Amino acid sequence: MAASNDIVIEVKNLVKTYDKVNAVDGIDLKIKRGEIFAFLGPNGAGKTTTVEMIEGIRKPTKGSIMLLSLDVAKDSGKVKPRIGVLPQEFSSFDKVTVKETISFFSSLYKNGKKVDDLIELLDLSEYRNKLYQNLSGGLKQRVGIAVALVNDPEVVFLDEPTTGLDPRSRQDVWKVIKGLKGSGKTIFLTTHYMEEAQELADRVAVINHGKIIAEGSVDELIDTYGTGLVLTFNGIGPKLPVFLGNTGRKVDLTGNGQVSIKISDKDELLGILEILKGAGVKYKGINVRRSNLEEVFLKLTGESLKQEVK
Ligand SMILES: Nc1ncnc2c1ncn2[C@@H]1O[C@H](COP(=O)(O)OP(=O)(O)OP(=O)(O)O)[C@@H](O)[C@H]1O
Ligand SMILES: [Mg+2]
Repeated sequence: MAASNDIVIEVKNLVKTYDKVNAVDGIDLKIKRGEIFAFLGPNGAGKTTTVEMIEGIRKPTKGSIMLLSLDVAKDSGKVKPRIGVLPQEFSSFDKVTVKETISFFSSLYKNGKKVDDLIELLDLSEYRNKLYQNLSGGLKQRVGIAVALVNDPEVVFLDEPTTGLDPRSRQDVWKVIKGLKGSGKTIFLTTHYMEEAQELADRVAVINHGKIIAEGSVDELIDTYGTGLVLTFNGIGPKLPVFLGNTGRKVDLTGNGQVSIKISDKDELLGILEILKGAGVKYKGINVRRSNLEEVFLKLTGESLKQEVK
């Protein structure tokens, strides 16, 4: 289901102060129904504090939070049955089986989702009678997501759902998250993995030192903050750097006969290839790559750190 314009979460000027320090320092957020929103930021940036204030678990120092058109400060009791939460570092009862764990949490709600349906959705059938303590990290996270879904919530908060998982388990969790979006749920995801945001998110916000420093779709962030296109030649003769140096172009020599050049568009690429052909420069391979979210993130969080030192 496509995201609509119906705003499900609206946060205004949210602040949380611990020991005189603003862990969350005046942030605004708007999240639409049906979208996957990824909240990115380095360790200690304020992600969990923000998420848990929206969930109604931590009390804001200042600011307002509307969730599903309800004021979280006043109507937390009405909000809770309609949201699902996977906390950072979820854990459950060690000596209880997968099925018993999900059944227990489901029993806390009047109209809980069927336990067998959740077991199937999270692909946990073959582990249903295994004790929680004997599950791998990836399976534990899947049980955690099942628990977050017992009340068939409209909004699901997942705080670092794939941290510490191997690539295969991570992909399994991604599949589940995509399925949740497919069934119309709104997902608020925090992550350290840029690849995860790139794969899943409709919209991303980057938080650093409690402030949002960038927001938009992955493509918008790459277009705005990325370095554009990077052209790399492999196995190139020594003539290229000298040659391009003469034309006034900036050339990064990365060694091993590999040369990377920043270019602004495809026309420039074609122009350079023409010039090289005319000059008889030989190379084995070329590769053109767009900036990715990882580079954008490092640039953004690095720059704002420098700004603080000033
Ligand atoms: N209960 C608390 N008491 C005091 N300080 C806290 C508390 N919880 C968080 N902090 C501080 O607030 C800041 C933000 O922490 P938070 O856990 O929200 O960051 P995060 O972005 O979720 O980090 P991570 O990626 O490591 O999970 C950190 O400096 C942290 O030490
Ligand atoms: Mg956290």
